[in-house]
Amino acid sequence: MVNCLIIGHGAREHVIGESLVRGGATLYSFMSFKNAGLEDLSKDIKIHSETDFKEIVEFCKNKNIDFVVIGPEAPLCVGIVDAIEKNNIPCVGPRIEAAQLEGSKVFTRFLLEKYKIPSNVKSKMFDSLNGIENYVKDIGEEHIVIKPEGLTGGKGVKVYGDHLFSKKEILEYCQELINKRSRFLIEEKCDGEEFTLQTFVDGKNVVGSPLVQDHKRAYNGDKGPNTGGMGSYSMEDHLLPFITQEDVKMALDDMKKTVAAVKAETGVEYKGFLYGQFMKTAKGLKMIEYNARWGDPEAMNVLPLLEANFVDICWKIIDGNLSGNIRYEKNATVCKYLAPEGYPVSPKKDQIVKINKEKLNDVGAKYYYASVYREGNYIYTTTSRAMGVLGIANTLEEAEKIAERGVSCIEGKLFHRKDVGTLDLLQKRIDHMNSLLNK
Ligand code: AMP
Ligand code: GLY
Repeated sequence: MVNCLIIGHGAREHVIGESLVRGGATLYSFMSFKNAGLEDLSKDIKIHSETDFKEIVEFCKNKNIDFVVIGPEAPLCVGIVDAIEKNNIPCVGPRIEAAQLEGSKVFTRFLLEKYKIPSNVKSKMFDSLNGIENYVKDIGEEHIVIKPEGLTGGKGVKVYGDHLFSKKEILEYCQELINKRSRFLIEEKCDGEEFTLQTFVDGKNVVGSPLVQDHKRAYNGDKGPNTGGMGSYSMEDHLLPFITQEDVKMALDDMKKTVAAVKAETGVEYKGFLYGQFMKTAKGLKMIEYNARWGDPEAMNVLPLLEANFVDICWKIIDGNLSGNIRYEKNATVCKYLAPEGYPVSPKKDQIVKINKEKLNDVGAKYYYASVYREGNYIYTTTSRAMGVLGIANTLEEAEKIAERGVSCIEGKLFHRKDVGTLDLLQKRIDHMNSLLNK
């Protein structure tokens, strides 16, 4: 038996935990907030800060943990892997230098530029107003994106036309960041369709998985404020209708070059999961961001399709001998997040969520707990996304129907995006891409 520890408390960690158990592991969970799904799957759990390395190492030793999988970015970016590995316990996740790919946007753009990685975007770092006006003029104010350094939970990036509407607003946001003593990037805005390519990395080899598209806006039709992601879909051929096999090859090549660049620059090998967010544009493929972990919700689209044993894959990452392709079911998936009413601006917390598990089982939908807590027999909302509901089927249309039927088995003061995974929305994405490519 393999004793595995998962660190983290969201739906992403729930699906990672499920995959470890499916691979034959005895699961232990260390989380700052009790996830009911992980509690049910685990032999033992500890509720404690996910960045308290001493406690984590202690728990690993007490439970004879064979390896640790780290779900979220926060512990990775402050060196959890270094701390655990010092105690001779292997980890699936990058060490602190390599985790900078997510933790420091300045590091990442510098690296991509230095190592001439083709999908890089024009970008410059600032920490004062010096030179900003000229740079903005050079790029053109309508093509500006501002990205604060460091982790901002997806909320720090401001894009012209979405969050910034004039040169005055650009300069005001720069000043706000300067006042907070934050370094930031000003970069060129890309126009196109985004996709997520999640990979397994053993230090040298980078192995891809089915492409996914996430939906960041809160409401139907891509309206409303940005969120952690309201849902995501993937297709039965593991591509997207507007992304070709050639595009995937280019993205994967750039990820391989990035992993080699991390080693060359820091001396440290990147090991774990690497999430690439790319955009296909009229000017080619562009790298928007890297994350040092699985995506949330995107992990839910990919891990349940794995035909290979996830525990074996983790060992291969640790041992540095990943090879070839990893097999996945040829199915489409649709994941819909249920969020508390008012999310993300003024979410209604402590509201009861009633889950009809029998009916969910009947309709064939899977579900993953996110930021909800269980008291007695009931589940309650917090201020973040509540539950991910997943449909898997031969076609996108059927997967979407299963996800919707699944959603109807969950009652509470919740909302979700009905349009995620629908053929209508997919067609809009295809039309958008075609119009950019003048097809
Ligand atoms: P990030 O935190 O870097 O993922 O940025 C959040 C979101 O901002 C991305 O998912 C994109 O939708 C958008 N974004 C970031 N960088 C760019 C860019 N250079 N051009 C256009 N949109 C961008
Ligand atoms: N779904 C976006 C992320 O996990 O960062």
